[in-house]
Amino acid sequence: MQGTRLLGAVFLLLLFLMMTSFYDVQRNGLTMIFMDASRPQLKQNVSHHIALQDFQSQASVTNSTQWDVTLLSDTKDMTDASSVALSIPSNGTCRPHVNVAFMKVHKCGSSLIFHMLLRFGYEHNLTVALPRQVGLEFIGSLGTIKDDDYLHPPGGKRWNIFGHHAFYNRTRFRQLMAPNTRYVAILREPLQRVQSAFNYFRIEKGFPGLAKQTPKGIAPVTTYLDRPKYWDPLFKVELVSPNKPLALMREHVCVRNCMARDLGLAERDYDNHTAVEEFVRGIENDFKTMLILEYLPESLILLKRRMCWTLRDIIYTTGRHSRNVKYTFKASITDKMKSTFYEHNYADVLLYTRFNESFHRQISQESADFQEEVNHFRRVISDVSKYCLSSKTRKGNFVVEKSRWNDAFSVGSLLCVQLREHRTYWDKFLRLRYRQTGYKDVGKVVVHSKKSRRKPKKSRKRRTRRKRG
Ligand SMILES: *[C@@H]1O[C@H](CO)[C@@H](O)[C@H](O)[C@H]1NC(C)=O
Ligand SMILES: *[C@@H]1O[C@H](CO)[C@@H](O)[C@H](O)[C@H]1NC(C)=O
Ligand SMILES: *[C@@H]1O[C@H](CO)[C@@H](O)[C@H](O)[C@H]1NC(C)=O
Ligand SMILES: *[C@@H]1O[C@H](CO)[C@@H](O)[C@H](O)[C@H]1NC(C)=O
Ligand SMILES: *[C@@H]1O[C@H](CO)[C@@H](O)[C@H](O)[C@H]1NC(C)=O
Ligand SMILES: *[C@@H]1O[C@H](CO)[C@@H](O)[C@H](O)[C@H]1NC(C)=O
Ligand SMILES: *[C@@H]1O[C@H](CO)[C@@H](O)[C@H](O)[C@H]1NC(C)=O
Repeated sequence: MQGTRLLGAVFLLLLFLMMTSFYDVQRNGLTMIFMDASRPQLKQNVSHHIALQDFQSQASVTNSTQWDVTLLSDTKDMTDASSVALSIPSNGTCRPHVNVAFMKVHKCGSSLIFHMLLRFGYEHNLTVALPRQVGLEFIGSLGTIKDDDYLHPPGGKRWNIFGHHAFYNRTRFRQLMAPNTRYVAILREPLQRVQSAFNYFRIEKGFPGLAKQTPKGIAPVTTYLDRPKYWDPLFKVELVSPNKPLALMREHVCVRNCMARDLGLAERDYDNHTAVEEFVRGIENDFKTMLILEYLPESLILLKRRMCWTLRDIIYTTGRHSRNVKYTFKASITDKMKSTFYEHNYADVLLYTRFNESFHRQISQESADFQEEVNHFRRVISDVSKYCLSSKTRKGNFVVEKSRWNDAFSVGSLLCVQLREHRTYWDKFLRLRYRQTGYKDVGKVVVHSKKSRRKPKKSRKRRTRRKRG
């Protein structure tokens, strides 16, 4: 009884911290330290075992405003691997597909899908690929994944889920992923994508003289789009963010055929239409599910159906935290700019056009209720987002009612936090679990408060990380 109380107290503390604290991760060793800004003297070395059990259990609690209590009494059952099955209904019609490699194509809303996959992997106790370095946003470098770039699952197990940034390399992914992996990526209309990339990375800084040639009040990207062939040879990636590591910038910043680049097309082939055609056919062969950002809800419903996932698996929230898909910057792009850019980015345009076409073809072949399910999904996203944003006023959990396409499930505070949280959050919890399941060198995971977050050295690093699309 005493033990249960203590456990309860520890859990409530954890819960409080999850909602109020910020996280940071560091290398080496593994201690989990909780510090509360309002009680700076309080330092607890909480066994990650407890933390994880509680954390995992919540994922399976479906309808309770008092899930913290439910949780504790359920802890025993929840440590069982079978708890995973709770969130995957298997009613005989299809079995959920759990081996997925997602290529996180830059500036295509891919972070949203990445975080979804991390949650999926975590909740379903899957082997999720993690970089060796705690919290890093990519695995490997420019198409090469070396053995010391990632954490090695014990027993030579292969990955179920891959979602970090990496350039697609067919040979390498076949070696690293579990058999029967499905390859998924996301594409976006190339001209929208390049505008988003300029806006986000301030790519104009990489072109000496471009800013000067841009009239006041005009978006720099329009100067670039006037003459992309003139500007490209002048590009110096190190000028974009001189303070950031060059390797990181090379990985993330790109101006030409960037989607094709992320999917493995070599730069020397950009102007070789035969090679580009071959490349696109290869991608069509490997990626049976290609998401299109312009049709995100449709894409996710298609993904859900293909993978036999649940509605809960694919929910996300919009609003304050959905920077990934929002794009506010507008520039006046002429038809001439568009055609010049399209010609210059032949590979991306071919890739997008083909997949946009086949996407619509696939949708038209879905059952008649496809659009109805998409509309239902939109309503759920909107309701859940409203609920999660109303953190001050809300009472109890939000229940998504059962429908033709889903079982009922409830959304509580913790799920709201999880839907909002990003890579480093999942990185930490996955590492804590991996530590338990025999991984080596998972690194040191530290959870600390707002206050200690202000250490100058680290916060600079974090800003760097957060800026990745
Ligand atoms: C934290 O707890 C672990 C496991 O109980 C123990 O091995 C370790 O020495 C503790 N660390 C500190 C700093 O108290
Ligand atoms: C779910 O919560 C509602 C509202 O609190 C309650 O009326 C209902 O009985 C609960 N259902 C289950 C299965 O616990
Ligand atoms: C997760 O899977 C590992 C083996 O891969 C197993 O040892 C562990 O008990 C599982 N945990 C849960 C909570 O299902
Ligand atoms: C299984 O799920 C599908 C899709 O949600 C549904 O159409 C079907 O009726 C269900 N079958 C059973 C036996 O519950
Ligand atoms: C792809 O991976 C293979 C196997 O690791 C490697 O030999 C090859 O160099 C990689 N290709 C690129 C472009 O990095
Ligand atoms: C273009 O690509 C094709 C197919 O990869 C190759 O056979 C051909 O040599 C390339 N042409 C040039 C000019 O590089
Ligand atoms: C994508 O395909 C749809 C349906 O064919 C079409 O209406 C739309 O214009 C296409 N989008 C682009 C950017 O080409």
